[in-house]
Amino acid sequence: MRASEQTADQAEGLRRIAPPRPVRDIEVTSGKGGVGKTNVSVNLALGLALNGRETLLLDADLGLANVDVILGLHPTYNLSHVIGGERSLEEVILSGPSGLKVVPASSGVREMADLGSAGNAGIIRAFSELGQKLDVLVVDTAAGISDSVISFCRASQEVIVVVCDEPASITDAYALIKVLSRDYGLSRFRVLSNMARTVHEGQALFEKIARVTDRFLDVALDYLGMVPYDEYLRKAVQRQRAVVDAYPRSRAGVAFRSLAQKADGWPMPETARGHLEFFVERLIHRGCEPCKVA
Ligand SMILES: Nc1ncnc2c1ncn2[C@@H]1O[C@H](COP(=O)(O)OP(=O)(O)O)[C@@H](O)[C@H]1O
Ligand SMILES: [Mg+2]
Repeated sequence: MRASEQTADQAEGLRRIAPPRPVRDIEVTSGKGGVGKTNVSVNLALGLALNGRETLLLDADLGLANVDVILGLHPTYNLSHVIGGERSLEEVILSGPSGLKVVPASSGVREMADLGSAGNAGIIRAFSELGQKLDVLVVDTAAGISDSVISFCRASQEVIVVVCDEPASITDAYALIKVLSRDYGLSRFRVLSNMARTVHEGQALFEKIARVTDRFLDVALDYLGMVPYDEYLRKAVQRQRAVVDAYPRSRAGVAFRSLAQKADGWPMPETARGHLEFFVERLIHRGCEPCKVA
């Protein structure tokens, strides 16, 4: 065997025994629409990218204010092209600011839970090839308690529930936490108060929801703090930029950077070991069985 072949062999052997790189996955959800999920996802993901993390933001919402619109990106392809075998995941991914990678929204996220075994293998391969280079996956989920929202939350290690000071936001967040805990065994949620006018208001919002979950559900809620209501965030949205990028010193910009800092410090659970393929495996195999039976 020539020396170069030997080196290549050794490298291959090392790759095989090297522990897979952990990928942190974070779902941003809320129950109710319009509370700021997409802005939280974009700014958290970008904050993590600014911290030097290789971050992929997956847009799992087909709503109007999509991730690509907020970031001024122009997608040609999306996940449904990967599932259909027409494009590789690399070809679908868009480059956002500071190296942030974005998978634009598509009906593909719904299809993922419903693929046959050949399709499953294909999509797992597509993600695992990419997983080598990733530190964090952030998923912007749709409003409501649809099968796809449930599947994403079940597959991930961290679920951030965004709430704002509207009665429907609290009741919908509670309904989502209730379904995820009672029917699917999720027991830990992180709550972020968005568009709060004061620190006190943000905390009071959290306490409102924690009072009801403490009474009726067996879950642990962690308060993540608040992101203030900030006109600069709206200005940034109009300019199709993330507020952490366009107005980093604005109150919302600072709050999102601190949120990213916190997320970076969360412990990696044991199940985090593994490439992104494990996330996709969990997503596909856990699916939403009780929903189908119901
Ligand atoms: N912290 C904030 N300050 C001011 N406006 C905000 C804030 N967060 C969100 N918004 C505004 O609220 C609206 C809904 O936000 P979006 O992120 O699209 O919510 P969702 O994804 O939950 O539907 C947008 O117009 C956005 O500009
Ligand atoms: Mg949204």
